Amino acid sequence: MDYLPLHFDVRDRRCLLVGGGQIAIRKANLLLRAGARITVVAPDIDAQLEERLSGDRHQVVRREFRAEDLNDHVLVVSATSDSTVNQTVSKEAQTQCIPVNVVDNPTLCTVIFPAIVDRSPVVVSVSTGGQAPVLTSDIRRRIESLLPEGVVRLARYLGTRRNRLKTVFPDVDQRRRKTTEFLDSPGATAAMGGRDEEADNILLTGDVIRTGEVYIVGAGPGDPDLLTLKALDLMQRCDVVLHDALIDDRVLDRLRRDAEIIYVGKKAGAPSTPQSVINDQLVNLAHAGKRVLRLKGGDPFIFGRGGEEMEALIDAAIPFEIVPGITAGSGCAAYAGIPLTHRDYAQSVRFVTGHPKEGQVDLPWDEMVNDNQTIVFYMGLGGLSSICEQMIAHGRADTTPIALIAKGTTDKQRVLVGTLSDIVEKVRKTDVARPTLTIVGQVVTLASSEQNPHNVKRRGQISVR
Ligand SMILES: C[S@@+](CC[C@H](N)C(=O)[O-])C[C@H]1O[C@@H](n2cnc3c(N)ncnc32)[C@H](O)[C@@H]1O
Repeated sequence: MDYLPLHFDVRDRRCLLVGGGQIAIRKANLLLRAGARITVVAPDIDAQLEERLSGDRHQVVRREFRAEDLNDHVLVVSATSDSTVNQTVSKEAQTQCIPVNVVDNPTLCTVIFPAIVDRSPVVVSVSTGGQAPVLTSDIRRRIESLLPEGVVRLARYLGTRRNRLKTVFPDVDQRRRKTTEFLDSPGATAAMGGRDEEADNILLTGDVIRTGEVYIVGAGPGDPDLLTLKALDLMQRCDVVLHDALIDDRVLDRLRRDAEIIYVGKKAGAPSTPQSVINDQLVNLAHAGKRVLRLKGGDPFIFGRGGEEMEALIDAAIPFEIVPGITAGSGCAAYAGIPLTHRDYAQSVRFVTGHPKEGQVDLPWDEMVNDNQTIVFYMGLGGLSSICEQMIAHGRADTTPIALIAKGTTDKQRVLVGTLSDIVEKVRKTDVARPTLTIVGQVVTLASSEQNPHNVKRRGQISVR
């Protein structure tokens, strides 16, 4: 290890900041967050810094640094662009055994600032020993996205229960085991959600009572980067996952390695798990004390039968939570560069689904022929010709633009653009993979616009026009 990681308590202690420019402001902000009393010394001091350090807790000294400035300070930060000053500060501080940091010069430092994820009281510090600052920020960003906001509440909750926990479990090993079990139980989720009484029933009683719970989570349309932070967190904490056919493999790759994975997909033309069986599985697994993740394509409440699963859980009195996801309509539209509404083209958007019977789709077509309305059809290819025929028959112009998006948002996304009169023929000549989504309306013309930053060609997607 090149450096010893420590978290330094500078609350109400004097820290010396040499330098008065923008970098000094950044360091001052950090020291202020940790409650330090700051002395800033520099011939020129930014007005913003001076204002931030007004009041008697801090001191602003307008002149060059002198060795005696170090007296009574527990830490010194040199944030000047003058290498001679930086060297002097470093040398004097080291002579007096005061930890010193010189910004952007690890060789003059005895301490370095890590990148931090601040969810106080939880603070994660990341360092590459001053060797690769960009990598440090990248790692910090990744950790940031993995730590849920609820961890703040969880840490505070555990802090307030420390003494009670000691009374209930006087033995240190027993206490540690209990806390570890608690963190993996619904009690931790309860504490993160501010339900302290529910958490107490698990933390401060004899055995961990595993009641089981179900999370109905939207996994988005395909691109794993479109998962929400909450979905990712639950994917790491679940015991068992029941997932649809629509879940991309790259999304499943992000599941906790040892989670049990159960496929309950329904694919057109293939044997599928009946909804009642899925509902029963959710209830039975939760009764067995499992933390169950029901991972559904897109958003669970948009053509996802999430409502039926929720009703089954309510009937069985199972604790549950619904986590929304990006629905295919908005994901595919965004990745194809088609705005679903636009002041000039469409003032409303309608999401529609239906099942073709003998090639025909029964829908309220009269309500879908207004030229200022975008219609998004969540339907497979089977209904495409019926959609085009019915829209034309009910009065929408046969020149109305239409886009078919296959495997939207994945690296195999394919966008076919045409009109109500020619799209069926274009699709017939092309090999299109499931799932597909259809967008009808004037907004589709924007998909091919050269000014459009999402232009399908620029995104490297195959487009057939
Ligand atoms: C049963 S619906 C589920 C919708 C999902 N709950 C949502 O919010 O996106 C399935 C239909 O969504 C559409 N779909 C879902 N993901 C898609 C994707 N990545 N690309 C194209 N269409 C998709 C297809 O029309 C598919 O037939």
